[in-house]
Amino acid sequence: MRKPIIAGNWKMNNTIASGSALIKELIPLVKDAQCEVAICVPFTLLPAAAELVKGTNIKLGAENVHFADKGAFTGEISAEMLKEIGVEYVIIGHSERRQYFAETDETVNKRAEQALKNGLKPIICVGETLEERETGKTEEVLERQILGAFQNLTAFDMPANIVVAYEPVWAIGTGRTATKEQANETIAFIRKTLVEKVCAKCGADIRIQYGGSMNAKNASELMSMPEIDGGLIGGASLKAEDFSKVVNY
Ligand code: 13P
Repeated sequence: MRKPIIAGNWKMNNTIASGSALIKELIPLVKDAQCEVAICVPFTLLPAAAELVKGTNIKLGAENVHFADKGAFTGEISAEMLKEIGVEYVIIGHSERRQYFAETDETVNKRAEQALKNGLKPIICVGETLEERETGKTEEVLERQILGAFQNLTAFDMPANIVVAYEPVWAIGTGRTATKEQANETIAFIRKTLVEKVCAKCGADIRIQYGGSMNAKNASELMSMPEIDGGLIGGASLKAEDFSKVVNY
C-alpha cells in the first residue's frame, strides 16, 4: 500500500515572519489528514519551520541540496546542514532548476544519491515541456529523466525513501492542469519504467505525485486516480486554507 503524500513547494516565497504565520495557521487545519503532509520551504525559513512543526503531523522539506559533503561551493547547502535542522524531504530536479539553473539528469542523480546517503528523502521531479508533449516525445523524455535520476540508486532502501513528482512543465503555475486521465496514464508509464528498468521489486511501491496547478478544486478528482499517490503543490500551498483543502481532499 502506498500512503499518499501531499507536499507544498513554497518556491521563493515567504519570509520568516510570513512563513511562520502561514505554518501556524496550517497546523490545526491539517492535523487530521489521512495522507502524509509535508511543506518544502526556502532555506532561510527551515530553522523556524522546524521548531513550529515539531510534534505535529507536518513533515519538513527543503527545495534543493548540493551533491558534495562540503567545501568550496559558494551559495550551496549540504545534506548535513539540512539534517541538522531536522529536514526530512528534499525536492530535487524541479523543472525550474532544470530550466533556470542548469540542472541536468546527472546532477539530479548526484543530489539524490547524496540525499539518500545522508538520510534525507528525495522528491525527484520529472516532466515534459509543452513542445515535447505536442511532438510525441513525452515518454522518451520521462524515461531519460527517470533512468538518469535513478542511476545506481538501487543500493539504497527504496521505495519508502524516494518520492517521484510528475510535473508537466506546461501545467506549472499556468492554471492549466493535466486531466486526471492524462496524469494517471503518464504516471503509469513512469511506474512501468521504474519496474521494468530500475527496480523490479520496488518500482511498484514508489510513491509518484502529480504536480502542476493542483488546487483545492481539482485535488479530489486527481487523487481519485489509482496511479496518483499525492501532489506537489506550488501556488495553492501558499494559503493555509487552500493547502488544507488539498491535503484533506
Ligand atoms: P503550481 O502548483 O503553482 O502549478 O506549481 C507546481 C509545482 O511546481 C510544484 O513543485
